[in-house]
Amino acid sequence: MMGRLAAWFRERFPVGEFRAALYRQARKPLPRHVSWWHTFGSLALFLLANQVVTGVLLMVYYRPTPEAAFESLRYVTVHATFGWLIRGLHTWGAHLLVVVLVLHMLRTFLMGAFKKPRELTWVVGVTIFATVLGFAFTGSLLPWNQLAYWATTVGTEVAGAVPLLGDGLKLLLRGGEGVSEETLARFYVVHVVVLPWVVVALVGLHLFLVRLQGITPREPVGSETPLTPATSIPFWPDHVLKELTVFPLFLLALVSLVVLLPPEVGERADPLRTPEGVKPEWYFLPTYQLLKYFPKLAGLLVVQIPILLLLLWPFLDRTAARRPRGRPVSVAIGVAALALAVFFGLLGFLSERTVTVGGAAVHFDTYGIPRQAEPGPAPPPGG
Ligand code: HEM
Repeated sequence: MMGRLAAWFRERFPVGEFRAALYRQARKPLPRHVSWWHTFGSLALFLLANQVVTGVLLMVYYRPTPEAAFESLRYVTVHATFGWLIRGLHTWGAHLLVVVLVLHMLRTFLMGAFKKPRELTWVVGVTIFATVLGFAFTGSLLPWNQLAYWATTVGTEVAGAVPLLGDGLKLLLRGGEGVSEETLARFYVVHVVVLPWVVVALVGLHLFLVRLQGITPREPVGSETPLTPATSIPFWPDHVLKELTVFPLFLLALVSLVVLLPPEVGERADPLRTPEGVKPEWYFLPTYQLLKYFPKLAGLLVVQIPILLLLLWPFLDRTAARRPRGRPVSVAIGVAALALAVFFGLLGFLSERTVTVGGAAVHFDTYGIPRQAEPGPAPPPGG
């Protein structure tokens, strides 16, 4: 019976050809130097799958209206079976995905993997990164708590500063004057329908290009030698086993974060009450801080420079060398850009905060400049 069923299926679907193609892909040779650093790409894929699975599960209970959004997420977090875990995996998974993507970009940058003929792989990668940040931005409104509401109010306000298009762009994002149920509906649709399709298409193209061109060798551009059994390892089992080691370790880290630092429900959004100290997520902090030092329009232009540089880097660094030692200027610019992003991110985090340094209270003003904190009100007598 089973044999006849298999024969029937084989007549209608080319099982043999499919299996052969799969085998070719599995045995595809990789350069011998491929290491643990080369697992960040597949780790990003793993985390992306986590976002899809947990996102679909969250949609079962989530209701995208101002009346129900906050309560529905509170229900998921407090009452639904394993709801806290699903929501935590989705929230923390988003943070880890950004971290892993930065590490993946750093590895491909340092190893000169963006150079000829992989310029398009890099450009598609940068577009994926921007799409992931779009996911983060649209997703952050969905809990409809105070932080979500006011961070989106500030974020969409920035769009209003774009010359000529600003007002139209802000209206397009918000669907009205302020952040309202129209905004929530738009962000929801973009988050659960539009961006998922965009990311699936882009990641598909990215992986197709990676497979087509193979992993970057160490030799300079133009001096690559074909891989031989002596200079290569097979994708399966050598590299896949590394990936299968990294996935559970990351899952463990992810679950630990969810258990130790579960995402909060917060306070329901109140459009009439602006809370103090609203700040964007850590990955938007460098942009948030940088925008403060410039008039609106100039700020918008300045923050676009790093994105443009990132996108165009394969066409700017055209030297043949791949190893960092062979292209010190390019690597120095990359490291300086990363250091500046961390520096402005830190300033953004500290701004408008009072911290205690060596027993003394220091207040960081909105520009991140430290000043001695004003003494607080005197304690009540006897208190
Ligand atoms: C969800 C997003 C992404 C996924 C799933 C992904 C996946 C992958 C995978 C599996 C590889 C092969 C091995 C490796 O890990 O290095 C790879 C290679 C590559 N990726 Fe990504 N990637 C993503 C985002 C990015 C981003 C943001 C960039 C850069 C801006 C980028 C640039 C590259 C380049 C240049 C290569 C070629 C590496 C080489 O030939 O050595 N990728 N990617």
